[in-house]
Amino acid sequence: MSNRNETPADTSHGAEGWRGKVTGTVVPGAGRGRVLGFPTANVAPDSLAAVPESGVYSGWMARMGAGTLHPATVSVGTNPTFTDETVVHVEVYCHDLDEQLYGERVAVWLVSRIRPTVKFSTVEDLVNAAVRDVEITRATLTDEQRTRAMAELRACSSQHTQ
Ligand SMILES: Cc1cc2nc3c(=O)[nH]c(=O)nc-3n(C[C@H](O)[C@H](O)[C@H](O)COP(=O)(O)O)c2cc1C
Repeated sequence: MSNRNETPADTSHGAEGWRGKVTGTVVPGAGRGRVLGFPTANVAPDSLAAVPESGVYSGWMARMGAGTLHPATVSVGTNPTFTDETVVHVEVYCHDLDEQLYGERVAVWLVSRIRPTVKFSTVEDLVNAAVRDVEITRATLTDEQRTRAMAELRACSSQHTQ
């Protein structure tokens, strides 16, 4: 993955009506998330052009094989609190899932951007911010979005089985 830190979102890949949409495969991360209390699915995106500018987003994640949809808070960024590397990660914290999803195909619909990615001086500050991000996401997500994302997921699945 290249550094696409502040590149505007490309909405030309089925993201109409959304802040962005990223499809990809779940790959192992650095393993910090579980320790922090926010286990994340690290998504290797199919298209770097679909990865939006760095920041924390409210959204929904679908497990394409299982056909399930999950409320999610999504971090797009280089994890500057922990590392100076320039690789942008797409990390999805699903509020209602605590499973390893390695190898699974997923789709992530981004609803809104909560804040920019921050280089926090302590891990505690990051965890406090993430708690707040999840609260904001809970207040942001709607049944209408869930229905729309499920419809897109079903349309996508039926395309692949025809
Ligand atoms: C809701 C949420 C917000 C995050 N915000 C930031 C942030 O502002 N700055 C940062 O350096 N990392 C942020 N992260 C990313 C964490 O640093 C990352 O998930 C953690 O290092 C675990 O990485 P790993 O999955 O590769 O183990 C955020 C993660 C989540 C889930």
